Amino acid sequence: MLDKIELIKSEASSEFALIKDEKSLEDFRLKFLSRNGILNSLFEEFKEVSKESKGKVGKTLNELKIYLHKIYDERKESLESSSGKNTDSADISLPGLKYNKGTKHLINTALDEILNIFGRIGFSIYESDEIEDEYHNFDALNTPDYHPSRDMQDTFYIDSKGKDKQYLLRTHTSPGQIRVMENNTPPIRVIVPGKVYRNEAISARSLAFFHQFEVLYVDKNVTFRELKGTLNYFAKEFFGEQLKTRLRPSFFPFTEPSAEFDVECFLCKSKGCRVCKYTGWLEIGGAGMVDPNVFKIIGYDPEIYSGYAFGMGLERTLMIKYGIPDIRLFFENDVRFLKQF
Ligand code: FA5
Repeated sequence: MLDKIELIKSEASSEFALIKDEKSLEDFRLKFLSRNGILNSLFEEFKEVSKESKGKVGKTLNELKIYLHKIYDERKESLESSSGKNTDSADISLPGLKYNKGTKHLINTALDEILNIFGRIGFSIYESDEIEDEYHNFDALNTPDYHPSRDMQDTFYIDSKGKDKQYLLRTHTSPGQIRVMENNTPPIRVIVPGKVYRNEAISARSLAFFHQFEVLYVDKNVTFRELKGTLNYFAKEFFGEQLKTRLRPSFFPFTEPSAEFDVECFLCKSKGCRVCKYTGWLEIGGAGMVDPNVFKIIGYDPEIYSGYAFGMGLERTLMIKYGIPDIRLFFENDVRFLKQF
């Protein structure tokens, strides 16, 4: 048995010398050290060794065991460190890795600020679904399907086969007005922020997916003057005292009278430039007094209640505030752009 142990030791040594990678190391382990390996079979044989020889043979066998484990462990460690697996061998003199901290996207920071501005004058937040039905997106907003103004907003319709209604991706936050009024009684003071979708060509000023925020106030004796006051309050809080604003007559089926809300062009200070198409003004949203027809559809008496509503494009508003020349920058996720805010 002693000769056999000696023989196996020399066999193991010469095979060990040939180990050059993880595969040959594993072969070595399987042959000598695994459950069915040579070392274990020697221990099996050891049980049959006579009492007198047990002392010497046992000692030699244990030495072989220690030797085999030692050379195996050492080679394993050296192979791991040369393949970079062994973390103990990391060079601690190298500079550490730099991880960039994540921050809120400009859209979310701005939205928080806007919700705050309206919160300070008593408006609460109302969240409405992005998947809407035709009734809330159009019909209840005084826009039946034959109405030409439906063409103003190219709609992404959702396949609604087998459903009781035609569903779509909301084209504006105005259906939020209907949802709020259906579920509440005046006085109502809400802001409805969210994503909207339009099947539009993408350009420096337009996206097919963007954000709006809708503001609705309904009570007795609400006047156009209050609408103007609220818009100016928002402009001053958000853009600063200096910025000039104006209302321009316009048309929306759900407001009467209707207006477009413009702010002075930030780049040329109203002198006229490429961004404002040489008008000196930039449009950021639509506004108006809630059309009496909308109140009738909801079931409010237009003789008792009046209200104003406006809806603004968040990206366009931010383009003005920060002088961002291209709306696509918001969603390209270029860190050089995002980290400026
Ligand atoms: C509307 O969406 C009306 N719902 C606004 C409204 C609400 C009027 C309440 C009256 C009462 P309009 O389609 O003009 O209106 O869009 C409003 C704003 O969204 C625009 O002024 C602009 O700032 C922004 N906007 C419109 N289309 C795009 C687009 N494709 N990409 C980015 N922003 C857009």
